[in-house]
Amino acid sequence: MVETVKPAILIPEPNRRVPRHVAIIMDGNGRWAKQRHRPRTHGHREGVKSVRAVVEESVRQGVGTLTLFAFSSENWQRPRSEVNILMELFISALRDEVHRLIENDVRLRVIGELSAFPEKLQHGIRDAEALTANNAALNLQVAANYGGRWDITRAARALVADVLAGRLDQAAIDEQAFAQRLSFPDLPEPDLFIRTGGERRLSNFVLWQSAYAELYFTDVLWPDFDEEAFRHALDDFARRQRRFGRTSEQVDARAAVRAYGRG
Ligand code: FPP
Repeated sequence: MVETVKPAILIPEPNRRVPRHVAIIMDGNGRWAKQRHRPRTHGHREGVKSVRAVVEESVRQGVGTLTLFAFSSENWQRPRSEVNILMELFISALRDEVHRLIENDVRLRVIGELSAFPEKLQHGIRDAEALTANNAALNLQVAANYGGRWDITRAARALVADVLAGRLDQAAIDEQAFAQRLSFPDLPEPDLFIRTGGERRLSNFVLWQSAYAELYFTDVLWPDFDEEAFRHALDDFARRQRRFGRTSEQVDARAAVRAYGRG
């Protein structure tokens, strides 16, 4: 007899800890397609379905911000034909998905060096950002032509410019002043950093901002990363204790004070 394994049913608990910000490296599209003897671009197209699933599940679960690594600064080195198809996919996804973003109250922002993209894509990005600017259920950030070191270098340049222009005292340069000049200074830093596709690397994604993020690596290839796989990652996060340099006793005591008050 074949034994069937029941999938774990994750019951939402009232006090379940939900990450305020999830950052994801969506890896494994090419391998997923190769396993099916299809071109790599087929994997990217299927990957759009996982993007949709994770965005909508984030809204349902109350994740405030979701940042997806869609195209790294290094991805320009891929074959021209693959880069072209990815650009077309971004343009069509922006056009076709914007109404779903509006329906789901999702605000879209794109982070990265956008000037390198085709004009048509830049227009599509600006339009979609404007159309969703007042939405509030989820901040969806798509990182495109983005690199963590690019972000940090740009912030350093902005600091120097501010000091030279007399807007900032050199002695006032601290972590906060630095962080304010990175991408998305107005949003919380990622609490949960997910990478699909089996590699266990950060690959130059939100480096500074992920200093305290919980890391979650899964072998699931991105096109197979559906709502259930995402809920497993959230469930794993909910079980972790985040100490930020404190002892676990200190963390437990703070949690007790939060739950029951001091008295
Ligand atoms: C990495 O897989 C994936 C990418 C470089 C592209 C990600 C793009 C999408 C999921 C499509 C659309 C996204 C949006 C936001 C509309 P890989 O090609 O490196 O896979 P491999 O490691 O198996 O080769």
